[in-house]
Amino acid sequence: MEDLSPRPGDLDAIETASRDEIAALQLDRMKWSLSHAYENSAFYRARFDEVGVLPSDLKSLADLAKFPFTTKKDLRDTYPFGMFAVPREKLTRIHGSSGTTGKPTVVGYTQKDIDIWADVVARSIRAAGGRRGDMVHVAYGYGLFTGGLGAHYGAERLGCTVVPMSGGMTERQVTLMQDFKPRIIMVTPSYMLSILDEFRRQDIDPRKSSLAVGIFGAEPWTNAMRQEIEQSFDMHAVDIYGLSEVMGPGVASECVETKDGLHVWEDHFYPEIIDPATGEVLPDGEMGELVFTTLTKEGLPIIRYRTRDLTRLLPGTARSMRRIEKITGRSDDMMILRGVNVFPTQIEEQILKCRGLAPHFQIELSRAGRMDQMTVHVECTPGAADEIARASSARALAHYIKSVVGVTTRIEIRDPGGVARSEGKAKRVVDNRPKE
Ligand code: DLL
Repeated sequence: MEDLSPRPGDLDAIETASRDEIAALQLDRMKWSLSHAYENSAFYRARFDEVGVLPSDLKSLADLAKFPFTTKKDLRDTYPFGMFAVPREKLTRIHGSSGTTGKPTVVGYTQKDIDIWADVVARSIRAAGGRRGDMVHVAYGYGLFTGGLGAHYGAERLGCTVVPMSGGMTERQVTLMQDFKPRIIMVTPSYMLSILDEFRRQDIDPRKSSLAVGIFGAEPWTNAMRQEIEQSFDMHAVDIYGLSEVMGPGVASECVETKDGLHVWEDHFYPEIIDPATGEVLPDGEMGELVFTTLTKEGLPIIRYRTRDLTRLLPGTARSMRRIEKITGRSDDMMILRGVNVFPTQIEEQILKCRGLAPHFQIELSRAGRMDQMTVHVECTPGAADEIARASSARALAHYIKSVVGVTTRIEIRDPGGVARSEGKAKRVVDNRPKE
């Protein structure tokens, strides 16, 4: 694969600034953000007053710990526009969360917010190895979801030619990729696997495609999946993270030259890791729940937003801004089976170790008597579809899951194509346990 390290002069000055410079900028901006939230959002004013803190109480970055958290419930309770800090007329755009139950959570952006968002996504694409003039195929969904439009504006900002495909119509995605020859694709990793299937179905060698870089996010995926995609397409697979409440894609991104976790664009988003049970701030290096404070956002400033994503903060490498470790999962996705915590990403890792299995899977939770039971539905590859091969794949997978993850599972091997395909974020867990 090509060496795509940045050339001198490619980066924004802040990407290589010293830690002291970054911290000084953050402190200034954090003071602004807290005051802006307090003065212009009735929600934040009430929240700060409740615990008796004022924006002027922030003298150092560590003082942020005095301020209350914000949660998804707060956004729901103030639906649709109750948390905004500017009049609705000042908003250039609205997005919504991809939540599947109840009302969506609504977020809003001023023109300045949209501009900063485009800047950080452009920075992310560049970190992944993208350059001015590249063609970028965007297969994240367009609409209320932030993936499509977020990627789109960032790619335009970098000076790329954007193909705004959105998700779905997989056959057409492949045809247009063959015809237009994009160098970069931005898509969820699970939908990339559907696209891979379609290449094979059309008898096109994915390694000969024009793609050199894939920028994958919006859902957890493992390093094992990275290898699978890189080898299948002979391309770089790079991670991008974000969430609508904080901005959208481009809150943190991996650098192609290191692929060692995602640099948080700390000049706009201030990260903390907390103990999810006590709310206490943990030192860098320790695992916990990721919390973000926006430093420059006008429309919907977010103070100490609890993401529920689990990771840890690591020092900068390819850039001076700190990294988050590749996200293993959300606290919401964690399953507890007979006392053992299990994340879908752990199952993904084990599946990718088994030769006769394809990386398409879904986990079903059910209850047999008083015991919770986990069934992994996974596909065999076309070359390992006979009875003997299936039985041996099932045994191997059950063994890996038992010995590495520590739980006993039922394995159901489906025919190739037998597990529902994703066109966006994959639904990894189906919970069929009776409601308490
Ligand atoms: O998924 C924004 C996005 C779009 C990010 C495209 C990257 C690419 P939401 O729909 O609000 O926003 O979902 C946010 O998705 O809290 C994580 O749980 C998960 N997530 C996003 N990126 C990653 C990633 C978009 N790279 C939620 N790895 C977040 C793991 C991710 N999980």
